[in-house]
Amino acid sequence: MLKTGRGAEAPPFLVMDVIAAANAREAALPPGAPGVLRMEVGQPSTGAPRAAVEAAMRALSAGAPMGYTEAFGLRSLRERIARHYEEKYAVTVAPNRVAVTVGASGAFPLAFLAAFDPGDRVAMAAPFYPPYANILTALGMVPQLLPCDASTRFQPSIAMLEALDPRPDGLIVASPCNPAGTMLSAGELGAIARWCHENGVRLISDEIYHGLSYGMEETTAAALSDSAVVINSFSKYFSMTGWRIGWMVLPEDLIRPVECLAQNMFISAPHVAQVAAEAAFGGVEELEANKAAYARNRDRLLAGLPAAGFDRLAAADGAFYLWADIGHLTNDSVAFAARMLAEAGIAATPGVDFDPARGGRFLRFSYCGAEAAMAEAPARLYSWLRR
Ligand SMILES: Cc1ncc(COP(=O)(O)O)c(C=O)c1O
Repeated sequence: MLKTGRGAEAPPFLVMDVIAAANAREAALPPGAPGVLRMEVGQPSTGAPRAAVEAAMRALSAGAPMGYTEAFGLRSLRERIARHYEEKYAVTVAPNRVAVTVGASGAFPLAFLAAFDPGDRVAMAAPFYPPYANILTALGMVPQLLPCDASTRFQPSIAMLEALDPRPDGLIVASPCNPAGTMLSAGELGAIARWCHENGVRLISDEIYHGLSYGMEETTAAALSDSAVVINSFSKYFSMTGWRIGWMVLPEDLIRPVECLAQNMFISAPHVAQVAAEAAFGGVEELEANKAAYARNRDRLLAGLPAAGFDRLAAADGAFYLWADIGHLTNDSVAFAARMLAEAGIAATPGVDFDPARGGRFLRFSYCGAEAAMAEAPARLYSWLRR
């Protein structure tokens, strides 16, 4: 038997299995049967903004060679992203601090490798986005889970950080977060950023769901800390998942280290997708229409799910997820989700992926799907739970 590495032990991302099961059920439905309501997927069903697609087509038809770009991306895209910080948050970010990456996913290993050593502890709220912990583990780092609940909107607090002994080497926050959809207030994020800076803890702020919040103010860690790493992406608000473009705003001390890692690991993000991403900033009207549809879906579910029996929902501050405590219905969210798919034709993600200890009694509903599906879901769930 040949040796396999630590990375070969990375667990699966269970939501992909749920997607496969929902696809299989859809394919097996007899003609005319009610379809599967898709509430498991975490990606917009809308395409890239028209301006982005047209920019890509123009570049391709002009015969542009589409070679590698510099490791940190096209200068014009980095400048456009820097301008976004000025326009959206009134924060000045120098374009040389912007690194264009292969999605936010491509930013994680770069940030982790530049900031941490094997054995370093990196704290994060539980529930959490599974790849944070799985990538850290594959790189030999140690995820430190902070069990969170509704009392802190499923977000970490200074009290939780103070209680960690020894102090962690890093902290990952996401606001809005996946799976809970909750946010930190500007004051809370500011206090966390200060605490991290003063305690020598590297803050990594995943801001991928910025643009998708429904009342609370969005604050970037770039405005609050000179030592934080900010990660963002064109996958969610910009509706460009498959184009695979994300970015980081780096602190000065990590610019060159991350650049060297990026040169070696990725060379560059896809060139044509970078051209499209730059143009996507011109697609605000379409993007705001997508967001308005999410907001309508959110309203429908917040009105309908409690009556159907799902009345323990985390504050739905942002992203497009509802984190439901189903502890009064089951302790086995995997079996529950499988039955819900088979009997009610509704796909949602069991919580175990996001919180190994407590996820057996949570379910994540995603509401970025079709409006008709979100309108129908509460009534179907109501009848199913009362069969
Ligand atoms: C919190 C969070 N961060 C990062 C990602 C990865 O996004 P990307 O498509 O930019 O790699 C996701 C995707 O669902 C996510 O939910």
